[in-house]
Amino acid sequence: MNSESDLSEKIVEFFEYSFLVEEGIFEPRPETEILVEIALEYIGKLAKDKEKFVVVDACTGCGCIGISIARKVKEKSLGKILCVATDIDMKSLKLSRKNARDEKIFFLKTDLVSGIRYADMIVSNPPYVSLKVKDRINVNDPPRSLFGGEIGYEITEKLIQQSSQILRGEGILIFETGYDDLRFFGEQKILEQYKSSLFRSIIENGFRILDIVKDYSKIERILVLEKL
Ligand SMILES: C[S@@+](CC[C@H](N)C(=O)[O-])C[C@H]1O[C@@H](n2cnc3c(N)ncnc32)[C@H](O)[C@@H]1O
Repeated sequence: MNSESDLSEKIVEFFEYSFLVEEGIFEPRPETEILVEIALEYIGKLAKDKEKFVVVDACTGCGCIGISIARKVKEKSLGKILCVATDIDMKSLKLSRKNARDEKIFFLKTDLVSGIRYADMIVSNPPYVSLKVKDRINVNDPPRSLFGGEIGYEITEKLIQQSSQILRGEGILIFETGYDDLRFFGEQKILEQYKSSLFRSIIENGFRILDIVKDYSKIERILVLEKL
C-alpha cells in the first residue's frame, strides 16, 4: 500500500507483523521468518533465568527480525530481553526505527556487531550471495544487502569472528547463509569453497553447530551455533 506522501514506500507482512519498506532497503523474505521462530524457541529456553537477555540483530534492514523477536517475546512473556539492532546504512536504520514504533530497541550504525560489549544471542541475515553469480541475480534489492564477498561467506566470517568476542556464557549465534543456493547455479566448486571456509571459521572461532535448518525450498539456509 503506498501512502500519498511517499510513493516509494510499501507495507510488507513478515512473521505476524507489518513493516514499511522503501526503495533502497532490502525487502524481507519468507524464509527469514524461520530464523525468527528458531530464535524465539531458544529465547524461551534461555532467557527465563536471566535478568536481562541481550539480543543483537546484526544487519537489521527494515528491522523485521529484531522487532518481531522483541514483540513476540513481550506478547508471550518469554523473558526480559534487551534488543540492539545494527546496520551500516543510515536509511535502513531510520526506517527500522520507524517500524519499531513504541518497541524499545537500540539502533546502532556500526559494522555488524562491532562496538557492542556483550550479547547472549546474535541473530542476522547478512549479505551472503557470491559475487561470482552477480550477473545471474535479478532482484531489486541494493547490492550492499546481497553480496557477501567474492565467494559469499566473507561478511559472515567477519560476523562469526566479531560474535565470538562478545557472546557471553554459552551464547547463541543464528544466521542465514547462501552456499546451498549455488547448487541452483550449477556452481559446485564455489559451493564447496564457500561451505568449507564457513565451517572452518565456525570451528576456529570456538563455536559448535547446534542445527542446520532448511528453508521452504529444502535448501540449507539457517545455521544455529553455540559459543563453547
Ligand atoms: C539481507 S539484508 C537483511 C535485512 C533484514 N535483516 C531482513 O532479514 O530482511 C542485509 C542488511 O545488512 C546491511 N549490511 C551490509 N553490510 C553490513 C555490515 N558490514 N554491517 C552491518 N550491516 C550491514 C545492509 O545494509 C542490509 O540492510
